[in-house]
Amino acid sequence: MSPFAQELKQVQQRINAFLETQFDGVENHNSPLLEAMKYGLLLGGKRVRPFLVYATGKMLKANEQSLDYAAAAIEAIHAYSLIHDDLPAMDNDDLRRGHATCHIAFDEATAILAGDALQSLAFDILTKTPHISSEQKLALVQILSRASGVQGMCLGQSLDLISEHKQINLHRLELIHRNKTGALLKAALKLGFICSPHFEDKSLAQTLTRYADAIGLAFQVQDDILDIEGECSEIGKPVGSDLDLDKSTYPKLLGLNGAKQKAQDLYQTALNELEKIPFDTTALQALAEFIITRKS
Ligand code: IPE
Ligand code: IPE
Ligand code: MG
Ligand code: MG
Ligand code: MG
Repeated sequence: MSPFAQELKQVQQRINAFLETQFDGVENHNSPLLEAMKYGLLLGGKRVRPFLVYATGKMLKANEQSLDYAAAAIEAIHAYSLIHDDLPAMDNDDLRRGHATCHIAFDEATAILAGDALQSLAFDILTKTPHISSEQKLALVQILSRASGVQGMCLGQSLDLISEHKQINLHRLELIHRNKTGALLKAALKLGFICSPHFEDKSLAQTLTRYADAIGLAFQVQDDILDIEGECSEIGKPVGSDLDLDKSTYPKLLGLNGAKQKAQDLYQTALNELEKIPFDTTALQALAEFIITRKS
């Protein structure tokens, strides 16, 4: 196993254990809500956003316990976004992480509520982050809320939906991808940064943000590629979903090779930014490579 694969596995084990504890002592009162939340949050997932939180935070000597909270919060938001993304009113998909999507395993109303409650849970977790100041905690909440809402993920999802069956230009497509996917990946890195003692270093923040912008867009370009070239058994979701819905994607606008070139260019941009940082960027470099070479 490569050092990166090993590190990703460690992150997965650590965050999965921590996420499970978030439900300790929560009563279900015979409602399916709690089980649906666990289903959407705990059943698989690569945990790339937590990896970014830990890799950035550890590089900058943040306390690892603080990072657990930040990583759990962003993964809860991500899980909510996936549950809603799969709903009939959105992408209408029936497979996620190799299992029936939440609305199929439960029902639509329960899936909507599970997403809502995971979103609330994320912010509740952030307020409990240990070993950081109130100022840092407030910054965590601000970063995650802005990246999730009308200036981030939700905006991107809305633009994605209204761009089905449409010919849009590259500028518009980039806007969609940067918001629906890039915003949360960028937020993951910023959360790790804010937990660290360097949280007031504006110039470092700007360089890291440019790295995150590049890998955030590259992540969705690769997701679009995998929707065509991926194996259902590996990606754990249906292949060809974008084509069925006539989504606006990088392969649709640039062709498969053009999309692959775009991913490569973004990877180079990401590496160039990391070179400007006077810390050990090995993990962030490896993550950038994983993002454009991943098969799942
Ligand atoms: C899928 O995200 C949705 C996108 C934003 C492209 P991931 O590929 O990170 O999904 P999981 O968490 O590993 O299932
Ligand atoms: C979704 O993009 C991004 C989210 C905010 C969840 P996709 O619709 O392409 O994600 P997948 O392919 O269903 O995971
Ligand atoms: Mg979608
Ligand atoms: Mg989808
Ligand atoms: Mg996709």
